Order: sequence, then structure tokens, then C-alpha cells
Amino acid sequence: MDLFEYQARDLFEAHGVPVLKGIVADTPEDVKAAAEQLGGVTVVKAQVKTGGRGKAGGVKVAKTADDAFEAAKSILGLDIKGHVVERVMVAEGADIKEEYYFSVLLDRANRNYLAMCSVEGGMEIEQLAVERPEALARVAVDPIVGIDEAKAREIAEAAGFSAELVEKVVPVFQKLYDVYVGEDATLVEVNPLVLTGEGNVIALDGKVTLDDNAEFRHEAHEALRVAAGGLDPLEEKAKENDLNYVKLDGQVGIIGNGAGLVMSTLDVVAGAGERHGGVKPANFLDIGGGASAEVMAAGLDVILGDEQVRSVFVNVFGGITACDAVANGIVGALKQLGDSASKPLVVRLDGNNVDEGRAILADFNHPLVTVVATMDEAADKAAELANA
Ligand SMILES: Nc1ncnc2c1ncn2[C@@H]1O[C@H](COP(=O)(O)OP(=O)(O)OP(=O)(O)O)[C@@H](O)[C@H]1O
Ligand SMILES: [Mg+2]
Repeated sequence: MDLFEYQARDLFEAHGVPVLKGIVADTPEDVKAAAEQLGGVTVVKAQVKTGGRGKAGGVKVAKTADDAFEAAKSILGLDIKGHVVERVMVAEGADIKEEYYFSVLLDRANRNYLAMCSVEGGMEIEQLAVERPEALARVAVDPIVGIDEAKAREIAEAAGFSAELVEKVVPVFQKLYDVYVGEDATLVEVNPLVLTGEGNVIALDGKVTLDDNAEFRHEAHEALRVAAGGLDPLEEKAKENDLNYVKLDGQVGIIGNGAGLVMSTLDVVAGAGERHGGVKPANFLDIGGGASAEVMAAGLDVILGDEQVRSVFVNVFGGITACDAVANGIVGALKQLGDSASKPLVVRLDGNNVDEGRAILADFNHPLVTVVATMDEAADKAAELANA
């Protein structure tokens, strides 16, 4: 689960990371009141889970409470990369002298943690990593040891902080690591971490991703999820039906039985997509062993509800649940969904009772359904239809 900036700020504060005061508001009137309460210069910041808010006009400095009111009027309702701003945070204004970057994250490929740090913060870190990789220090962090004082010092020195600044950032890095471990996060990122005119180091913008698998041991995280708007509606629907569903960015909806088959289906569709305009899998959906009509209907319902989906590939290998039962499931699902099923379906059945299964679909003769014999051909057809 990704948190909003204000939620990250609250976690930082709870772990002793230096932050500025911030008040969340969702109307210009409340923003004005918050700015009056904070006093002085404030910054009105869009609360959306996407980067580049500043460039999109979602971060505005306000000298007075009236300025804050006007800033809120222009930011609330703004669309930032498809995220509509419903809330802003009114933050105390900082007197920024320098901007730095710090993050610690789960490094899956190396089965380790990784800290990244730069004395050139503020700008987009992805851009810095590409254009000037030498300016971004990467330091492996052993999860058993964590970021203790020595490691924090190593990170700060690798990033090129002066001796005086090293002393200032080391305790902040250690506290940020407390957030990372203490909250079971997979990412804690601060961009920018700033040095103020008074010489204090403060986390001005935070991005935190929590590990959903650890939610059971953090009672407080559920409240964060609720405040963050809960699960995506399609994920919610899948969860209610006990389906293993992961939304991806592509156009070809995928349904399969068994995680291994679904994984390889994603691969062949991605491969086929390269021949058809670069279309990609839209999701991972494993309907598991017993593909009854109800389960198939629930699965199709979830996938057809995804506006990005342009075609659906149903890839089933009949085992204990034979192909005729799966075919009946598809027929039942399409009957149940009626007109709400409006996208082409490519079906590949194989395994137990495959002939019976194919015969059922042939008899049904639904205009949206194409039955294809092999997985590769089916992937190709589904990609072609998604690109049509
Ligand atoms: N409280 C603040 N006081 C003064 N300046 C601020 C404050 N918050 C942000 N800024 C300035 O605005 C810039 C952008 O702010 P911030 O990093 O929060 O948003 P962003 O980077 O555009 O968004 P994102 O991190 O989502 O990409 C900062 O680099 C900083 O210069
Ligand atoms: Mg930022």
C-alpha cells in the first residue's frame, strides 16, 4: 500500500524524524483556516499518489492565508496524471538552503535492503539516476544490521556530504530506517530532505510503501488504508470472490487456472504483444482449481470492469476440474453477464475432457468467443484483438 504524503509525514513524526507541521484539508475555507493556524508562509500541497506534483501545479507557496485559499482553489480538483486532487496538506513553509535525496527500499533482486542518497535532491531522482548516476550513492544495507550509526555515516559519505553535514544527516537516516523497519515498509523515500537557513535537516516530502503482507501485525495500518481510499474497486471485488487478482497496465485481460499457468500466460501475451502494437497483459487473475460458472463469472466480471481491457484471454488447463466444466462455466458466465460482456474473448482449453469442452463452446457459438487450440496462437489472437 502506497501512502499519501501526509500519512508518511505522520509516520515520520511518530518515529522522531524531523518534519514540519502539516494540516490536511479538503476545502479552500479549511485550507485558509489551517494557514491562519500555522501562521506565516505556508505551502499548499496536493495529496495524490503520484510523483511530479510540483511541476503539475500541485504545490504552491502561500505568503498569506488568503493566498493559501486561492492556491487551494486551483489545486483541489486538479487532475495530476489521472489522479484528481481531493485533499491538500497545508504545510509550514521552510527556508530551504539545500535539497538532498534519501531512500531505503527492499532490493528484491539482491535479497537485501538498499539505501540511495544524493546531495542533489529536489529534481526527479529517476532522471538523476539516468543522467548522472555517479551523483546518486547506492549503499547495500544488511537487514540483520540495518542502518546503524556506522552505516548511516557510510551512506552520507558516499553521497558526498561535507563532514559537518554528515553529523546532521546521520541521526535522520537512522530514524528513517526506524520507520522502514518499524512499520514494515518496502520503501521510505524523502525528496527533498532539506537543510534550512537555521541549519536544521528536515524531511519535506515523504513517500512510504507499506508491505501488505505485514498488515496483520500493525493495527494502525488498517486505518491508513481506509483513509487512503481503500483497495481499488476491482481488487475489492476480486478479494470478495477469493480470486487472486493483480491489476497491471496493459490491454489484454488474462484468466487462467493455477498461478504457474497464469504467469506463463503473461509471458506469452507480452511476447505476442510485440507483434501487435506493443499491447501488454492487463492483469494477473488466477481462478484456481474449481472453475465453476460462478467463479468464472466473477473473474470475467472483474476483468471486463477494467476500462483498459480490450480483449480477454481465458487460458485453462483442465485437471481435476475438467474442460467441459470450465466451458460450462464460461457459457454460464456469459449468460449471467449478458450485455455487460462486450469485449472479445479468446479461449484456449486443453487437458482433461478437452473435446467435450470445445464442443460445448462450439454449440454455444457466442459472437464474442473465439476458441483457439494452442496457447501461443491464442495469445497472438488476443493481442491482435486488443490492438484492433
Ligand atoms: N514546506 C515547504 N516549504 C518550502 N518549500 C517547499 C515545501 N514543500 C515543498 N517545497 C518545495 O517544493 C518542491 C516540490 O515539493 P515536493 O517534493 O513536496 O513535491 P514534488 O516533488 O513535486 O512531488 P513529488 O515528490 O510527488 O514528485 C520541493 O522540492 C521544495 O523546493
Ligand atoms: Mg518530492
